[in-house]
Amino acid sequence: MPQSSSAQSSSAQLVTELRRWIDGRAPGTRLPATRTLVRDHEVGPGTVQAALRVLAAEGTVETRPGVGTFATEGASVRRLRPADYSWQAGALGAAKPATATGDGPLRPTPDDAVSLHNGYPDRRLLPEKLVRQALVRAARGEYAVTAAPRSGLPGLRAWFAHELGRHTPPGTAPAAAADVTVLPGTQSGLAAIFRAVAAPGDPVVIESPTYWGAILAAGESGVRLVPTGGGQDGPDPVELDRILTRTGARAFYAQPRYANPTGVTWSQATRREVIEVLARHGAFLIEDDWAHDFGMTDLPELPPLAALDDAGRVIYLRSLTKSVSPTLRVGAVIARGPVGGRIRANVAASTMYVSPVLQAAALDVVGQPAWRTHQRSLRARLRSRRDLLVDAVNTHLPEAVLTRVPAGGLNLWVRLPDGTDLHHLVVECERAGVVIASGDGLFPAEPAGQFVRLNFAGPDPARFDPAVRTIAEVLPRCR
Ligand SMILES: Cc1ncc(COP(=O)(O)O)c(C=O)c1O
Repeated sequence: MPQSSSAQSSSAQLVTELRRWIDGRAPGTRLPATRTLVRDHEVGPGTVQAALRVLAAEGTVETRPGVGTFATEGASVRRLRPADYSWQAGALGAAKPATATGDGPLRPTPDDAVSLHNGYPDRRLLPEKLVRQALVRAARGEYAVTAAPRSGLPGLRAWFAHELGRHTPPGTAPAAAADVTVLPGTQSGLAAIFRAVAAPGDPVVIESPTYWGAILAAGESGVRLVPTGGGQDGPDPVELDRILTRTGARAFYAQPRYANPTGVTWSQATRREVIEVLARHGAFLIEDDWAHDFGMTDLPELPPLAALDDAGRVIYLRSLTKSVSPTLRVGAVIARGPVGGRIRANVAASTMYVSPVLQAAALDVVGQPAWRTHQRSLRARLRSRRDLLVDAVNTHLPEAVLTRVPAGGLNLWVRLPDGTDLHHLVVECERAGVVIASGDGLFPAEPAGQFVRLNFAGPDPARFDPAVRTIAEVLPRCR
């Protein structure tokens, strides 16, 4: 027979009270008899029976007919009491703004959805055969059972230094292996660098928009981000000069090539002037060369700024996790002078060392002649994926502004009509099977408009066109 709502509430209350009574008592403890519960809790026998049924169903008690009701073995673990961690609020204090959650790029993609939000390339864009062979060799080698030197395997450090040094002009001292610290992916290096160049609360200048992980790492290290906007050629050196004067910042985090998310590459003039401004202010450039392997042009590329610097002004980040394999989380920071030592100490404090098996496998892959062949073919494949997505945006989203067709990187940066409710759009698109990244989390300051970042390195480019059509269908409902 259905219970009245007051009977339900008193039975629920009795359940709570009995759970509390059982809590802390030994398994096998006998519960008071029904008539005792009726008397002590001032409820009817039906309410007691209903409460005991709930407790039996959740495994907290066991009723033995004719004998009694007993707390079960492990009742306290099995019971479905909602966890109460409310005390932690007082211990932890106010939460930092979360940039990696919600609409963020790290959220999981529902099965079957088209993923236009993820930063790591599809396996078809990786040198899969080389990676598998390298992992087998690494597993058979000595590094399967020995620890690595703190700063990385000597061969891998030398490789990273050589990669940068091959762009260094005569007359400039190239980076050495000793300047290299191997990282478990460059994300972990960002916080180590921020902590090395700035104390908590100190300003660090950053391009806006930028890589969400840099905003996250700055938050973790407690530095205060000072955003600077940018144009088609990169940041404005005059504005940078003003910001450095006003704030006294001593570091600028930037992506001079194929910036994530905008795709901007700094012009020659910007490169030169930014370095001059930083030198005048005695400030570092943190050059994140995340898309080093994702250029799409066959023309000779501008060298990393770090390759032209032997004054220790440029702290350089290079990653292999996207281009070799996301399972080989290996990257490097190259920093000369005392700052290199400080970064190394911070890295050691948080990661100790990077698995030498992964380092050996990564070094094996990039040492194969087939790696260069792979890189050449990757350029062409990225180009055709980019063009497919560009065509889809131009065809289906005439009201959107594609800010540029990038010459490298993995993303299109698309401005949507003013007044678009981005959060609503992202949620509705996901419901319709298309996952996109909202631009809002990529601005360290107020967003300069409503943008989405569309990644063209995910699985199944044949679905790009229908995916953008879906975005176009959802968009009018999100104003
Ligand atoms: C600009 C930029 N920097 C750094 C990273 C971190 O890459 P990883 O930790 O895989 O080396 C990413 C990854 O998306 C990125 O986009």
